[in-house]
Amino acid sequence: MASSSSAPRAAAVVAGVLVVMAALCLHGATAQLCEEYYDDTCPNAYDTVKQVLIDAHDSDTRIFASLIRLHFHDCFVQGCDGSLLLDTVPGMQSEKESPPNNASARGFEVVDAAKAALEAACPGVVSCADILAIAAEISVELSGGPSWGVLLGRLDGKTSDFNGSLDLPAPTDNLTVLQQKFSNLSLNDVDLVALSGGHTFGRVQCQFVTDRLYNFSGTNMPDPTLDSAYRAFLSQRCPRNGNGSVLNDLDPTTPDTFDNNYYTNIEVNRGILNSDQELKSSPQAQGTTAPIVDQFASSQDAFFASFAQSMINMGNIRPLTDPSVGEVRTNCRRVNGR
Ligand code: HEM
Ligand SMILES: *[C@@H]1O[C@H](CO)[C@@H](O)[C@H](O)[C@H]1NC(C)=O
Ligand SMILES: *[C@@H]1O[C@H](CO)[C@@H](O)[C@H](O)[C@H]1NC(C)=O
Ligand SMILES: *[C@@H]1O[C@H](CO)[C@@H](O)[C@H](O)[C@H]1NC(C)=O
Ligand SMILES: *[C@@H]1O[C@H](CO)[C@@H](O)[C@H](O)[C@H]1NC(C)=O
Ligand SMILES: *[C@@H]1O[C@H](CO)[C@@H](O)[C@H](O)[C@H]1NC(C)=O
Ligand SMILES: *[C@@H]1O[C@H](CO)[C@@H](O)[C@H](O)[C@H]1NC(C)=O
Repeated sequence: MASSSSAPRAAAVVAGVLVVMAALCLHGATAQLCEEYYDDTCPNAYDTVKQVLIDAHDSDTRIFASLIRLHFHDCFVQGCDGSLLLDTVPGMQSEKESPPNNASARGFEVVDAAKAALEAACPGVVSCADILAIAAEISVELSGGPSWGVLLGRLDGKTSDFNGSLDLPAPTDNLTVLQQKFSNLSLNDVDLVALSGGHTFGRVQCQFVTDRLYNFSGTNMPDPTLDSAYRAFLSQRCPRNGNGSVLNDLDPTTPDTFDNNYYTNIEVNRGILNSDQELKSSPQAQGTTAPIVDQFASSQDAFFASFAQSMINMGNIRPLTDPSVGEVRTNCRRVNGR
């Protein structure tokens, strides 16, 4: 990466670090995210987060999947502003306690560990929202997926939006609803299909699958688009009135590898969630998302290229760059000074 000369550096010390950080990503009058944001103020930020993730993975093979999901659930609710990470305080219930996240979103302790390491190296510099964006990229790369230049420079917000998180995409959503929820955030069909490929690794609890096994859309019958052998397999693991917290692989073929098997599974009616199979099997998918599923199933390169771009698109949802609204939290769970 380009390293600046010592003259601006010296001027920056006089003018204050904030000026440098803001100036780095200015394009005209508008602050934007950029890859170089921490090059001067915390040059080892990426490697610091990476080491924390590698250490966490030693005792938790699921952690990479869990971390990318945190970035997704953060960005979809009032933009990528670390709102998911705040703990509940009197008068503000956290997003992390809402149904899409409670007893489901995980990895918060690893985010804390990354934050602690960064605070030790460069206090008050790297935002929690950016930690999630960096962790998502590292997690994909270390699982065999694509790499991309992570855009940085988000500030952390001071609120968590419990009600907003109720609108997160749900596993029971049909294609039309998924398209609405994504397009509402300026994400198109390619983004929807590519980002859903995040389900190439990680786990899913039985409670999100049982309706498809036993009582699809209230029909008291299984989902007809679910492959019968796969249904038999899942029914063993997730009996009708069994423990809804039992975990299953999102991608049973390669559970911890980031590859395009998510799409080859869907092609043979082995998408695990209704929202997964809808991308191919919904009547509305013909001519819209189904051809994109086909393309990614036949070309992992095409999937990887689209996934990287769509992660950048998702990371650009309502970036908070105004220092009069946001801040760099020193503890990802709390607004500074509270
Ligand atoms: C398209 C709409 C989506 C829906 C309806 C959806 C739904 C879900 C559900 C229900 C789970 C299981 C949670 C649990 O059992 O506790 C899950 C897990 C997961 N999701 Fe999604 N998801 C969607 C999109 C995404 C996107 C865009 C990404 C990332 C780019 C993603 C990444 C993951 C990962 C990696 C896991 C596993 C997490 C872990 O093992 O801890 N999902 N998702
Ligand atoms: C979150 O989940 C825990 C454990 O399942 C439960 O005890 C708690 O009541 C839930 N919180 C909310 C706000 O639903
Ligand atoms: C969240 O929604 C509930 C129910 O609609 C409402 O009573 C509450 O005031 C909302 N909370 C906020 C902070 O807007
Ligand atoms: C999709 O789900 C929404 C909300 O449940 C429903 O109103 C709509 O009719 C469904 N669309 C299709 C094509 O099934
Ligand atoms: C679209 O986003 C707005 C907030 O930006 C939210 O109020 C609305 O509920 C969202 N619509 C859908 C379908 O998610
Ligand atoms: C199946 O689902 C419908 C609608 O959600 C519900 O009314 C019905 O009680 C369920 N049937 C059984 C046997 O659980
Ligand atoms: C349900 O399954 C989860 C995950 O395997 C386990 O931690 C929990 O103890 C189980 N609960 C019961 C009541 O068996």
